[in-house]
Amino acid sequence: MSRTGTPSALACVAEIRALGNSGPTADTIMLDNSVILGVQPSNRADRVRLTYIWVSKSVRGQGHGTRALEAILSIVDRHALAILVRPAAFDRHYGSVMAGPPNKVLTSWYARHGFRPFSGPHMLREPRRNGEQHGQ
Ligand SMILES: CC(C)(COP(=O)(O)OP(=O)(O)OC[C@H]1O[C@@H](n2cnc3c(N)ncnc32)[C@H](O)[C@@H]1OP(=O)(O)O)[C@@H](O)C(=O)NCCC(=O)NCCS
Repeated sequence: MSRTGTPSALACVAEIRALGNSGPTADTIMLDNSVILGVQPSNRADRVRLTYIWVSKSVRGQGHGTRALEAILSIVDRHALAILVRPAAFDRHYGSVMAGPPNKVLTSWYARHGFRPFSGPHMLREPRRNGEQHGQ
């Protein structure tokens, strides 16, 4: 488990982890037996990092991924923290093989939730204040 990070990032990550049960590896949690996600405090800035989100193949396309992402985003907003992700499609059974949806599906999904291109392959979402909407 990551122990570095600012106090606010550590508190935010602890709150996100409390949404579910321990996942299969350190820094991951499982929600509703169908979603596994990894979240860590960033060790370089006052923000958190979504390392990945994975939904069981048999229940994809039913909104589980979106609900999990929205739950995370409402917590980071409450902590007024940014969140970083590196969209990279994969499938758990095949390690890092590109077997998930194409990256452009992932990047547009994250963009619809307020993530914007950041350095290199990363996307960053700044915190949303009460009532503020992210544009498309
Ligand atoms: C990415 C992932 C987590 C999405 O989970 P999900 O429960 O299937 O997602 P949802 O049902 O909430 O759908 C999310 C959006 O993506 C779209 N979408 C999902 N899979 C898609 C596909 N294969 N092709 C096109 N669009 C797709 C949905 O239509 C939906 O669009 P909307 O926001 O306009 O409604 C899931 O596909 C997955 O686990 N992929 C493998 C692991 C992976 O690559 N994770 C990303 C690591 S950063």
